[in-house]
Amino acid sequence: MMNDNTPKRAQFATRLGVVAVTVGSAVGLGNIWRFPYEAGANGGAAFMLLNLLFVFLIGVPVMCAEFVIGRHTGTNVRAAFRKLSPGGGWGFIGYIGILSSVLILSFYSVVAGWTMEYIFRSVSGAAGGASPEALHSQFDAFAASNWRPAMWTVLFLLCNYAILSRGVEKGIEKVSNVLMPLLFAILIAFCIHSLFMPGAADGLKFLFRPDFSHISGRVVLSAMGQAFFSLSLGLGCLITYSSYFSRRTPLMKTAFLTASLDSFVAILAGVIIFPAVFTYGQQPEAGPKLVFEVLPAIFSEMTGGAVWSTLFFLLLFLASLTSTISMSEISIAWFCDDLHMSRRGATRLNIGIAMVFGVVCALSFGCLSDFTVCGLTVFNLFDYVSSNILLPVGGMAISIFAGWVLRRSVVSGELNPTSRAGRVLVGVLVFCMRYVAPVCILAVFLAGIGVIRF
Ligand code: TRP
Repeated sequence: MMNDNTPKRAQFATRLGVVAVTVGSAVGLGNIWRFPYEAGANGGAAFMLLNLLFVFLIGVPVMCAEFVIGRHTGTNVRAAFRKLSPGGGWGFIGYIGILSSVLILSFYSVVAGWTMEYIFRSVSGAAGGASPEALHSQFDAFAASNWRPAMWTVLFLLCNYAILSRGVEKGIEKVSNVLMPLLFAILIAFCIHSLFMPGAADGLKFLFRPDFSHISGRVVLSAMGQAFFSLSLGLGCLITYSSYFSRRTPLMKTAFLTASLDSFVAILAGVIIFPAVFTYGQQPEAGPKLVFEVLPAIFSEMTGGAVWSTLFFLLLFLASLTSTISMSEISIAWFCDDLHMSRRGATRLNIGIAMVFGVVCALSFGCLSDFTVCGLTVFNLFDYVSSNILLPVGGMAISIFAGWVLRRSVVSGELNPTSRAGRVLVGVLVFCMRYVAPVCILAVFLAGIGVIRF
């Protein structure tokens, strides 16, 4: 399976591998940690419905746009735009992508580091038998303890280094093929367990019965930011990955499959967490700590809790890893292709920068908690700026580029419909890239920052 244009470039070996790496990039803390706490803070079902709407109305077209650009050019995000529109001024999208991938990688690694702490606690039995209240304060004390979260952040980034320096096929693809199926199996087992909890009915009501009175411009913006974050869109992450796709990979099918599996995992995470939240009398609005306070409460009541807890946090850690390697790959591909660095040197540089910012984010729960910008700690600032501003702006630019600048023959050649229905679908997707996505993103964005009111 050689790529026609660039025979030397690395390529994912199998069709399963392509799905595993793409879903591996999409499924991560965004689904299991971020979605539940965002839904919890923003009214549950109404947030989820809005999120699903954005996933299919905007997410899938933008994902197809990234795939088309990436596979057609077969290069990194910065070079892709330069190649398609030399001197067209679109290169800024590449820089936005590279910059925000480092911001996201930094705060993401802090949370992934928390999962490592919880694996350690589960294995050592430190969490066993504690009451929900005690678990609550344990998390706060840990997050504020400075050196420990910082150490886990650095260790997590070293794990990334170990995989990334091995390269695309041997590192990224091999790891994803094993981890993704395992993750699905374990999530389904937890889901069944949660459905038998006393608070199951209340939890499911919260997640599935919409109350639209909670919806405001800010909530709509968060639901859209969540869709971008969870699907790994807007930074050129999927432009980079699809540059490793073979000509035979069906792009539209891959996009729909990724969006569906990703949403399915987010909903599963909600079904696992909200019954537990209501069973243990916790607050769904707890924010980023939600998963780390609620789940240990479930585990401490389960028979064999320590084993389940180890398994769960281990999988959450592994799911984070398949996501962070995709973020790093954005700048690594650029360092290698354009700056002619070695794979190893490029990986070192990327991980080194992320370590510096990552430690600052980790400390923002401890000694840097009073250091705020616009009322946000460094951790929250990185999250807010990247998810709610840079990803939507990047996504809007990418979809305008694919819809208006790229020749239609390139788009349909890459999407390559094989049936009448497929051709209609390409028409719909192009319409969404041209009009629906840019207009919606702009409107939601302006409403979210309070410039317009619905
Ligand atoms: N989608 C991942 C998650 O849900 C996070 C992620 C990976 C990401 N690559 C990205 C987010 C690129 C934005 C852009 O956990």
